[in-house]
Amino acid sequence: MGKTGTISIYTKEQGAALGDLFGIFFEDINHAADGGLYAEMVRNRSFEFDPIDRHDYDGLTAWEKVELGEGKSSIQVEQERPIHPRNLHYVAVEIIEPGEGVGIRNLGFNSGLLYREGETYTFSMYARRSASFDEPVAVRLEGIDGTVYGEAKVSVTSEWKKYEVVVASSATDFCGRLAVMTKGNGTLYLDMVSLFPTKTFRSRPGGLRDDIATMLADLKPKFMRFPGGCLIHDGSLNAGDRDSMYRWKNTIGPVEQRPPRKNNWRYHQTLGLGYFEYFQFCEDIGAKPIPVLPAGSDPHSQRYVPIDELGPWIDDALDLIEFANGDASTDWGSLRALLGHPEPFNLEYIGIGNEEIGEQFFERYTYFHQAIKAKYPDIQIINSSGPFAAGGEYERGWRSARDNGSDFVDEHYYQSPDWFLAHYHRYDSFSADDPKVFLGEYASWGNTYYNALVEAAFMTGLEKNAHAVGLACYAPLLCNVDYVNWKPDLIWFNNHQVFGTANYYVQQLFMHHQGDHLLRIDTEGFAAPAQPAESKERIEGKLLVGANLNEVVYRDIRLINHETGEVKTLTDKVEIGETEEDRRLSSEFGRKAVVGETGLKSYSLSMKAIRKNGSRGFIMYFGYQDEANYVMWEAGSHSNQESLVHAGSKGYRGCLTQSLFSPETGVEYDLEVRVDGRRIRTYVDGVLINDTEHIAPVIEPLYCSASIEEATGDVIVKAVNVQDADVQAQLQFADLHSDNLLIDVYDMSGYALDEMNSFEAPEKIVTKYKSMQTSGNQVGYEFPKHSVTVFRVRKG
Ligand code: AHR
Repeated sequence: MGKTGTISIYTKEQGAALGDLFGIFFEDINHAADGGLYAEMVRNRSFEFDPIDRHDYDGLTAWEKVELGEGKSSIQVEQERPIHPRNLHYVAVEIIEPGEGVGIRNLGFNSGLLYREGETYTFSMYARRSASFDEPVAVRLEGIDGTVYGEAKVSVTSEWKKYEVVVASSATDFCGRLAVMTKGNGTLYLDMVSLFPTKTFRSRPGGLRDDIATMLADLKPKFMRFPGGCLIHDGSLNAGDRDSMYRWKNTIGPVEQRPPRKNNWRYHQTLGLGYFEYFQFCEDIGAKPIPVLPAGSDPHSQRYVPIDELGPWIDDALDLIEFANGDASTDWGSLRALLGHPEPFNLEYIGIGNEEIGEQFFERYTYFHQAIKAKYPDIQIINSSGPFAAGGEYERGWRSARDNGSDFVDEHYYQSPDWFLAHYHRYDSFSADDPKVFLGEYASWGNTYYNALVEAAFMTGLEKNAHAVGLACYAPLLCNVDYVNWKPDLIWFNNHQVFGTANYYVQQLFMHHQGDHLLRIDTEGFAAPAQPAESKERIEGKLLVGANLNEVVYRDIRLINHETGEVKTLTDKVEIGETEEDRRLSSEFGRKAVVGETGLKSYSLSMKAIRKNGSRGFIMYFGYQDEANYVMWEAGSHSNQESLVHAGSKGYRGCLTQSLFSPETGVEYDLEVRVDGRRIRTYVDGVLINDTEHIAPVIEPLYCSASIEEATGDVIVKAVNVQDADVQAQLQFADLHSDNLLIDVYDMSGYALDEMNSFEAPEKIVTKYKSMQTSGNQVGYEFPKHSVTVFRVRKG
């Protein structure tokens, strides 16, 4: 153990307000809503699944035919007499032979529907039939082998009508099925076949899954950003299209009238969890709502609403504010009242756009901003800075925010743990006079204890820079283990279990113990920690060229030593191609070929490059150690629009910087990567495209922050020790005069860095609590290696 250092907390020296700093971000990705937080147990309840949503879907996805005894039937999806024009499809069960009953059976999400012994379930459906009106329709909670756990019967007439009945289950089964069947003759028509646990969060009919919602509530987030994410800006511009961009007006009112939607994460979205429910949930858990709206701009498919047609999109934003805050005399406020919430939802923030790039978005943003500020000057508007932590589009976002007077800039980054350590001081130089940072999405790549530890260290940096950072939320929030679009995620679940990751417990610590104002905190006298082996002076490694879903010819590949002026031709020509199949079999960034190696401090790798086919661009590695550790330039990546410099570190990857560049097939480009120490610049035809520094990670003795909570007067101190050694410290609470300090200590420690929570061991990594009592205003403490510690200091 090193020498004892001192942490001085100046309890009377307040700094920036912490406001609403730590919150959550909900997006319907990984089946976070349907098959997740939204408690509907029936999958494809309205027979609206369609290959547009996903190639292997159809109207009968998740349904199977039931034919009991000698029963025979034919089932098909029809649309001639729908229950509502926005909910076109329904199923027709033609009874050929009634046998012991014919009908349909739903398979649910995951392994099936979850039934618990003694609990009740609310079944509902729209139904009509053509004959045999005296024959009841039976609704059965079943096991996979047909064992009936609960049954109800309803009589159905010739006109569409909604039926609702509560059924109890006599058994617990995670692989349950729901059957709806009848006898007689003619045809039985069904739509909106639905089953909810009666016990939902706050007991709301058609509400939220209690266990998942409770996990979210237990975080005590200050805000909730929703509903996306890419979810909000991917899609067509016509609100009526199935793959339309997310339009909030489609998501309110009776669920059977909400149109089916293609979720951009390649599944079907019912919109049963809509804007009213989002607002209500925020209110329930005490989180301020932060809706994010599309700006008629889809950078992925490069679709943009013409400026002179932006009106309805801007109205969507204005109407949403009225829906949330307007009184009953307003059109949208009265609709909210009609839906059961006469009080306002007190909306304070609104986001326009998600991860936007390109001038087209920023041109449109101004119209939104001006219209919103003109009508609602107090609403705080969040602008966008693209999907990456730095580069041309990131800077364009910040310029736009400054020019428009945006209140916040939404920053997103998913990075390696090393990147988070290297960028601990990222916000130290940000000005309090600028728009504030909304760190709307971030995560280090992984759910291990190490990821959580590093995120905790970084979060003390967010806190300490509360003058510049106003809001921050981890992403993504939820993941159904059987429908993974993206990982890591904060909370994992299946149909009957849910667990928080190590990252969850870190987020929870920071949310529970945020405080209202920063306190000055100084550290001194700690021994210098052991530092990572990685060179802080240079980027060395092999040089490679590659292809990514295309065929590329590189010519005249040279290495230029800028210290000596020596120019070395590495190779005259490399032809390289990568097909879809190669992609599947090879590493993430395509096929590649080694062309040289360098240990130089200042050098350029230059070449001529031409794309013969395919839609992406060129790949050059210039600090390649192995598949887990590299630096790489991808000139022409996502949608053939971007020039990215990536760094891979210990198997985690991250994008250091991004700018726009769209290579054309058949055009030869002069490409150059220039490396000076850890600075990287890329040029196309002599024009600077990327300019970044690959900062090497640095370990600090302790990552600390301090704050004060107004309501209690408690002083809160956070300390994160990422070192592989315990750290001994003396904490001094200046100006805290008390004979007796009561200290609540919340601690995460004693875990191996690669440990994770799981369904089998959901609470392997959690926060532990102990209390301490001291006299005087000093206390000695040993921060265990790899620990996150929060002190809550109360006067005795
Ligand atoms: O959080 C997952 C996705 O990451 C979000 O939808 C998007 O904004 C980002 O690219």
